[in-house]
Amino acid sequence: MFDPLDLYSPDDIQIVPVQFNLVGREQKKHTSGRQHDESLANEDEKESDDDDSVIDNLDLPSVKYASPEVILCTLILLRPDRQVNFNQETEKNKSVLEVCKSRGLQPDLLKKLLSWYADEWPNKRLNSLEKICNKIPMLRHMISKELLLGYYTSVLKKYNNNSGFDNETIQKLLKELSSRISENCGRTAQPSTIRYFELRNLRNAIPLYEPSLTADNLGWKTWGSSLILSQLVVDRLHTADMDFVANRGTKRIKVLELGSGTGLVGLSWASKWKELYGIDNTEIFVTDLPDIVTNLKKNVSLNNLQDFVQAEILDWTNPQSFIDRFGYENEFDIILIADPIYSPQHPEWVVNMISRFLAPSGTCHLEIPLRAKYAKERELLRLLLQDNDLMVVKEEYSEGIDDWGVVEYLYRQIIRN
Ligand SMILES: C[S@@+](CC[C@H](N)C(=O)[O-])C[C@H]1O[C@@H](n2cnc3c(N)ncnc32)[C@H](O)[C@@H]1O
Repeated sequence: MFDPLDLYSPDDIQIVPVQFNLVGREQKKHTSGRQHDESLANEDEKESDDDDSVIDNLDLPSVKYASPEVILCTLILLRPDRQVNFNQETEKNKSVLEVCKSRGLQPDLLKKLLSWYADEWPNKRLNSLEKICNKIPMLRHMISKELLLGYYTSVLKKYNNNSGFDNETIQKLLKELSSRISENCGRTAQPSTIRYFELRNLRNAIPLYEPSLTADNLGWKTWGSSLILSQLVVDRLHTADMDFVANRGTKRIKVLELGSGTGLVGLSWASKWKELYGIDNTEIFVTDLPDIVTNLKKNVSLNNLQDFVQAEILDWTNPQSFIDRFGYENEFDIILIADPIYSPQHPEWVVNMISRFLAPSGTCHLEIPLRAKYAKERELLRLLLQDNDLMVVKEEYSEGIDDWGVVEYLYRQIIRN
C-alpha cells in the first residue's frame, strides 16, 4: 500500500524489453561510418516492405551524423503518450496529421527526418511519413528504458556545453532531451505534464495541468481518490438522483470542493452540470492552499469553466479570509473532498470545515484511500464526525488506481444529524 511520502520515489512504470537480435546489426552499423553500409542496405532491401516490421534503437538516427533537426524531430516523436486515467494511451495507427497535432510537430522537421531515412541513411522500415509517425513513438514500448537512455545520453554528450551549437534548434533539442531523460527518473523528477481524465457519462475528457512536483506541494498531482469520486458525482448528476437536483426551482446549487489539488472532482462536477443545465443556477468553488491555487485557476480555464467556477484560497487552519471575502452566511449544498487525510491534524481540520460550510440540508461526498499508515487518523475522522453531529449515511469500498498501481478506497456520504 502506498504511503504519501512515497510520492517522492514511486515505482517506475515497467517497460517490457522485447528481444531482438541486436548484436549483429549493431556491429554492422558501427563499422559502417558515414557511408551507408551496403550490406545493411541489402539486408533492408531483402526485408519486406511490410509496415508491421519492428524497429529497435539501432534504427534511430545516428547521433554522430544526423543533423540537429533530425535528432530534435526524433526526440519529439519519443515524447510520452497521452496519459488517460493514470494509464499511458498507446498511439497505434494514428495518421501523420494526428501525430503532428498531438506532439506539436512542425511538418518541415518531419520532412528532414524522412529525408534521413529515405536518402541519407536509407531504411525501408522507416522510409515513409506513416512508418516514421507510427513506429518511432511505439519504440518507447518496445525497447528497454536503458537502451533509450543510452541514446539520450549520447545526444547529450554531443550537444551539451558545446558553444559551436548555440542556435535555436539546439536549445529546443536540449530542452526536449532533458524532458525525455527526466521522464525516466521517477514521478518527482518528471517535468510538468497535462493528463487527461475520461469519465463515463461525461462527453469530454478533462485535461489537467500538473506542474513538476517540488517542495511538499501534493496538490500538483492528481490523486486516485479524485478519479473515483469524480466518476461517482458525474454518475449521480447523470441519473439526476442527487437530492439537490430535484425540486429546487430557481435556487442556485452551491458547491464547495476542499483541498482540490489539480481540481478533478470539482471540475468534473462543473463539466457535467454545464453539459446538463448550462452555466446558470450553480455556483462552484474549488479551493486549496495559496501555492496550489495558481495551478488550479489554470485548470479551470483549461476546461473553459471560468465563467462559473472560482478557484480560491481556503486554508483549513484559517478559513477566515475565505469567509470574509465570500460572506459569513456562506454554506454549501454540496461539499466534495478527495484524499484530505495524511497528517494527524487533518481529521480535525477537515471535520471543522464540513461543520462550518455544510448547509443544513447539504451533503458532503468524501473519498479517502485506505493507507495502512493512516488507520488511526481515519478512526479519528469517524469519531469527530459523530461528535459534530455529522452522520455517515452511506459507505462504499472500491478499488481504483493511481500512478503506482491498485489502491483501495472508501467513500462516505455525510449529512447533518
Ligand atoms: C493528497 S492531495 C489531494 C488533492 C486532490 N483532492 C486529489 O485528490 O487529487 C491533498 C490536498 O489537500 C490540500 N491541503 C492540505 N492541507 C490543507 C489545508 N490546511 N488547507 C487547504 N488545503 C489543504 C493540499 O494542498 C492538497 O492539494
